[in-house]
Amino acid sequence: MTAKQKELKVTLIPGDGIGPEVTSAARKVIAAAGVVIDWEIMDAGAGALDKYETTLPEETIESIRKNKVALKGPITTPIGKGFTSVNVGLRKALELYSNIRPVRSALGISVHHKPIDLVIFRENTEDLYAGLEQDVAPGVAQSLKIITEAASTRIAESAFSWAAKNNRHTVHAVHKANIMKKSDGLFLSCVRKVAAKYPGITYKEIIVDNCAMQLVMHPEQFDVMVLGNLYGDIISDLCAGLVGGLGVVPGANIGDEMAVFESVHGSAPDIAGKGIANPLATILSANMMLRHLGFSKEADRIQAAIVLFLSERHHLTPDMGGNATTDEMVNAIIDKIKLLR
Ligand code: NAI
Repeated sequence: MTAKQKELKVTLIPGDGIGPEVTSAARKVIAAAGVVIDWEIMDAGAGALDKYETTLPEETIESIRKNKVALKGPITTPIGKGFTSVNVGLRKALELYSNIRPVRSALGISVHHKPIDLVIFRENTEDLYAGLEQDVAPGVAQSLKIITEAASTRIAESAFSWAAKNNRHTVHAVHKANIMKKSDGLFLSCVRKVAAKYPGITYKEIIVDNCAMQLVMHPEQFDVMVLGNLYGDIISDLCAGLVGGLGVVPGANIGDEMAVFESVHGSAPDIAGKGIANPLATILSANMMLRHLGFSKEADRIQAAIVLFLSERHHLTPDMGGNATTDEMVNAIIDKIKLLR
């Protein structure tokens, strides 16, 4: 065990639905790659309600504040009921303003014939997710879309600085400023100011509806994308669909001090407890976490093992066209990790 590993404590939120199944899969893979983590297991979501009378206990937030890093399973958000989303609550409480979602066809399971290697930077703290809603009159409801200069500038900085560090060539800002001239207009003007500081990176703007079509027809033109919260959420799922589905796209929520890693997919109540959830997205999110923690050699090995595993097209879960269980897929990936030792 290295000195770096001795102190390594990470918060683990297993979450709801398939969350415990896929996070336990990710833990097994990390352990197989030789990284020793002292997991601090914390509640959030439906499972926390009885014990804490809230879906997002303060203890859980405190654990992440202390450990600085968390791996999180998906959490069910009841539609139209009084609970605010745990995900939105966490992102706001911890100022995790940058939601980073890499979408790649390199894993060999893409449904698109064109190469895709893009990274989504989704603003994570405001927009229509501010949760400011009210009934204005009978039959009339209102949601407020909040866009601020501070949040738009920091997500743009996040996208451009990442692009510069990772030798990326283009950043697209995605918007609907033709209709929402004030809110999306402010977002665009902030991104433009940041873009001007990065003359080596080509800056482009695209309206969100056209962006959706372009992604389906010509996804290869996109490199790094910066979006507000709602467009980022929707476009992420569209992109996931292009490369093999929600089961394979990882994600990170990053702030200046803390980071929470989680897949793009939700708690998949339709398959929860059946042992057939695809663990890849959570394993890939955990791999982003390992890189964040400085374990790039181990992360490279896990990535190589996944590519090797997928090239054989055995032991795939049903969403990928196979009939393997989550455990069978994880064991097959671990076999490849051992092979690459
Ligand atoms: P979902 O992502 O849970 O499921 C959509 C479809 O994809 C379902 O058919 C599901 O079976 C399938 N799917 C998702 N992940 C899969 C996996 N790993 N392996 C195999 N199939 C998978 O989206 P849905 O149904 O809209 O949401 C369910 C719940 O999850 C809701 O309460 C929602 O609020 C919550 N949610 C939570 C998120 C989070 O905690 N980060 C993100 C998205 C949704």
